Amino acid sequence: MKKYLIALMMVLAPVTASAAGGAAVPLDSFEVDLTNKASLQRGMANFVNRCLGCHTAQYQRFERAATDLEIPNELVEQYLIFDENKKIGEHMTNAMPAAEAKVWFGNPPPDLTLEARLRGPDWVYTYLRSFYKDESRPWGVNNAVFPDVGMPNVLENLQGTVINHCTPAELHSEHGKIDPLTGEEIGGCMSIEPKSGSMSEEEFDQYVYDLVNFMAYMGEPSKMVSGKIGTYVLIFLVILFVFAFALKKEYWKDVH
Ligand code: HEC
Repeated sequence: MKKYLIALMMVLAPVTASAAGGAAVPLDSFEVDLTNKASLQRGMANFVNRCLGCHTAQYQRFERAATDLEIPNELVEQYLIFDENKKIGEHMTNAMPAAEAKVWFGNPPPDLTLEARLRGPDWVYTYLRSFYKDESRPWGVNNAVFPDVGMPNVLENLQGTVINHCTPAELHSEHGKIDPLTGEEIGGCMSIEPKSGSMSEEEFDQYVYDLVNFMAYMGEPSKMVSGKIGTYVLIFLVILFVFAFALKKEYWKDVH
């Protein structure tokens, strides 16, 4: 029995370790929806417009994304590939030199193909919405889930400038949760400077949702295909059941 208990603990150890290794700030939860093609299509547009300038997705081909997301190739070529020398069959890379990028940002922008798998979609979703104004940092912003980040807030004109009134302790407390007793927001000490962003809070959350949904697709494109295959397999089994049942009846009709 003891042996089994130890084995069980070893199996569970990585789960608890990764849970404890997360950020101190609670993450907003994120439901990936690979069936929502419209969201994924918008997400791809957001990604190439706002992220591909600095980050690559070097394992993702434009054409594969076009096929999976049901965007006609001509539209991708016309609107989503900005480099005229690039063909649709090529990977989603950019021209940023890594060595210079390290000097400009402190750290070069990492490849994002597998980022949503590496950090989890919850983390990426929270990260992109958690930049706040901090004049002491080189780009004038800091991030609640990635302290002293080297990335500028590239979505600031959409979200608006986030002002942080939190003490460090509050920042790492139950930020954004509702107190069940008073109904008030706990740690609601971040606010958006009025009229500084072009989107409402809901529009911005949707924008980032689509973007992260696309990043989740990139991390595991085969999931989309396996979902479809699963449906075909179930349909096949239902049809097979009809014949198997008829055969069973035929075999058993004389046995009583
Ligand atoms: C101006 C260049 C630039 C743009 C544009 C940009 N980033 Fe970044 N990003 C960076 C840099 C530099 C880092 C590395 C920061 C560090 O390690 O301190 C980074 C880091 C990140 C990370 C954290 C990586 C990790 O796990 O360490 C994520 C996630 C990310 N970027 C997502 C995005 C997304 C999504 C977009 C598009 C909305 C985007 N970035 C646009 C420069 C950029």
